[in-house]
Amino acid sequence: MSPTDEPGWAPDPSAARLGDRTLFEGLASFAYLNHAAISPMSREVRRALGAMMDDYARDGVDSFLRWQRQRERLRGRLAALIGAAPAELALLPSTTRTVVDAALSIPWRAGDRVVCFAGEFPTNVTPWQRAAATFGLEVVMLEADSLGGERGLARLAEELSRGARLVAVSAVEFQTGLATPLAEIVRLAHAAGAEVFVDAIQAVGVVPLDVRALGVDYLGCGSHKWLMGAEGAAFLYVRAGAELVPRVAGWLSHEDPTRFLFEPGQLRYDRPFKRDATMLETGAINALGFAALEASVACIEAIGVAAIFEHVQRYHDALEPALIERGFASERHPTLRSGILSLRPPAGTDAAAIARALRERGVACSSPDGRLRFAPHWPNALDEVPRVIDALDACG
Ligand SMILES: Cc1ncc(COP(=O)(O)O)c(C=O)c1O
Repeated sequence: MSPTDEPGWAPDPSAARLGDRTLFEGLASFAYLNHAAISPMSREVRRALGAMMDDYARDGVDSFLRWQRQRERLRGRLAALIGAAPAELALLPSTTRTVVDAALSIPWRAGDRVVCFAGEFPTNVTPWQRAAATFGLEVVMLEADSLGGERGLARLAEELSRGARLVAVSAVEFQTGLATPLAEIVRLAHAAGAEVFVDAIQAVGVVPLDVRALGVDYLGCGSHKWLMGAEGAAFLYVRAGAELVPRVAGWLSHEDPTRFLFEPGQLRYDRPFKRDATMLETGAINALGFAALEASVACIEAIGVAAIFEHVQRYHDALEPALIERGFASERHPTLRSGILSLRPPAGTDAAAIARALRERGVACSSPDGRLRFAPHWPNALDEVPRVIDALDACG
C-alpha cells in the first residue's frame, strides 16, 4: 500500500437505529442513562480503533497520511453537524482546551469585560478568569439558572449595556439540563458589540444546533458525551474572520509546516501563521481519539440529530411523571429542553445515594450538584422506562 492511499477504514453506521443497542452488546447496565457524563464505546468505535492500531502496527509512519485524510473527512462531518465550514474547526484535546486556547488567543484590550455564568461547569469559567489575570480583563458573573426566563435575559442585557467584549455560556447547563436561549443571547451580545463563546459539549449530538444560523462566534465541544466518542478529542469552532493572536502556536501552526520534512533547505522558523482555527492544532494529534469520533459521529449523522432529540424527549416524557409522583421535583424547562432530565430528590433523601442504589440495579445515571440526572441517547429503548421505575422503587 502506498502512503498516499485513502484510509482503509470507513465508518459503517448501518446498524445504528433509534432505540436499538445492538452496537453496545457489552454494556452492563440495562439502562445506560449517563451520556451526559461519558458514553460507552460502540462496536463501531472499537472497530475504528482496531483498524488504526492494526494499520500503524503494520506500516508505522506510512499510515500517517491515510489517517490524516480520515481526520479531514471527520472535520467535514463535524462542520456539517454544526453548520460550519471545515476550515472553521480546530481538532483539540478537550472542551476545556478549546476554551483555554480561545481565551489565550482573542485580541483582548486591557479592561475588556467577559460575562460568565455561576452554576456552569468550571470549564467555561476558569480559563476566562486566567485570561483576566493575564490580560487585565474583568470577569462578571451572572446566574445560569436565570437564563430560563425573561428576568435572566433582562439582567444580561443590563450587564451588556455597561460594555462587554465576550459572553461565555453553555448550550446546555450540565446539572439542570436547561438549553440556554442561544439565539437570544447572541442577539443581545452582538447588539452590544460583544462576541459569544459556547461550551456545547452537553448539546452537540442530541440538540440540533447551527452556529451560522445562531451567529455564534466560538464553540467548543468534546467527544465523550453526546458525540459518543472517546475522551481526549474535541473541536473548536472559530467563526471565519474572527481574529486570533498566535499566542498558542507550535510547529504545525505555520503555513506549509511539513515542507522541510520532504524538501532540503526548507527548515525555517519564520513562515507565517495560519489565519484560521487550524492554527491552534500545534503538534501531533490524538489520532486514535479522532478515529473513534468519526465512527460515533457517523452513527449520529445517519439517524439525524433532530430524530435523536425527539426520541430522547419521548424517553423523558415517559420517565418524568413517575418520578414526580414519587416526590421528585423536575427541573425540565417547558421549552428549553435538552438530552438531560434532572430532578431534585424528595426532602431528606440524597441524590448521590439514589444514583448508587440505581447503579446496583442496572440503571446508570449521575447526581451532579444534588440532582438526579438521566441522560438517554439514541440506543436507549422506550420500553426500558418501566424497568427503570421498578428499579427506583426497589431502592426503597
Ligand atoms: C458543560 C461541560 N463543559 C465541559 C465539561 C468537561 O469537558 P472536557 O473534559 O472535555 O474539558 C463537562 C463535563 O465533563 C461539561 O458538562
